[in-house]
Parts: sequence; C-alpha cells; structure tokens
Amino acid sequence: MTTLYERVGGRSFFETLVDRFYEGVAEDPILRPLYPPNLGPPKEHLVLFLIQYWGGPNDYMVQRGHPRLRMRHVNFAIGWPERDAWFRHMEAAVKRGGISPEDEAQIMDYFNTSATFLINRPDRTDP
Ligand code: HEM
Repeated sequence: MTTLYERVGGRSFFETLVDRFYEGVAEDPILRPLYPPNLGPPKEHLVLFLIQYWGGPNDYMVQRGHPRLRMRHVNFAIGWPERDAWFRHMEAAVKRGGISPEDEAQIMDYFNTSATFLINRPDRTDP
C-alpha cells in the first residue's frame, strides 16, 4: 500500500506546498504578526510535520517531539478569522500542487478539520 507521501512525490511536494503557503502568510495582515520575523524555522517545522503525518520519515518527532498541535498553538490567539485566513492560503497552495483529485480531497479534508480543531478563541470575530 502506498502512502500519500509517496504518491505526491515525497519531500519536494511538501517543500513547494509550504513555500507557497508561507508566501501567502507573509502578505497576510491577520496572520503575519503571529509568526516570528524569520519564517525559515516555522517553514521547516511544517514541512517535517506534514511529511511525517502523511507517512514519510519521522524527522519531525526526532527533532521536535510529539506534535501536540493544540498545545503548541495555545499562545497564538486563533479565532475564526485566523483559522479561515490560514485555511485559504493552504487551500490555494494545495490547488497549485498538481496532485490527483483524490489526494487533494484527502489533504484538504485534513486541513479543514485540523484548522478548526486549533481554534482556541472561538468568540473572537475581529482580527
Ligand atoms: C488555524 C490557524 C493556524 C494558525 C493561525 C497557526 C499559526 C501558527 C504559528 C504562529 C506557529 C508558530 C510559528 C513559530 O513561532 O515557529 C505555528 C506553528 C506550527 N503550526 Fe500552525 N497555525 C494554524 C493551523 C495549523 C494547522 C491546521 C496545522 C497542521 C495541520 C499547523 C501546524 C503547525 C506546526 C507543525 C507548527 C510547528 C510546531 C513546532 O514544532 O514548533 N498549524 N502555527
């Protein structure tokens, strides 16, 4: 059985995806202030996390430990505006990836659910 990681072409797919995603974040007035000045480390962490999640090598775990994503996001105020901005940039990046409709649907379903799961300020409406 092949993993999604293998089907989409391995590490290079996730590098390109995350580069495109962060191009959006870098220009986003809601999201940019949440991230540190140097986007290099967050980029690499997301690449490693996604590779591991979709069945590739577990370098994320080796370098960063258990993902515990809710805990790692608790210091960033994430309401619906932040969630939707994040999701929009990721959706645009995935759609440019040229992968099969089935894999695209699987990835988007995951981002949709996980982004909602990371909301930690549900009452927040203004950025
Ligand atoms: C819902 C909107 C989201 C916002 C506003 C957000 C924001 C952030 C911020 C500000 C960081 C810290 C960057 C740094 O200082 O290094 C971060 C880290 C991270 N985020 Fe998100 N994020 C969101 C959703 C997601 C989702 C849906 C995923 C995965 C599916 C994800 C995965 C990660 C990972 C893996 C890290 C790095 C954790 C680490 O090892 O330190 N995030 N995020």
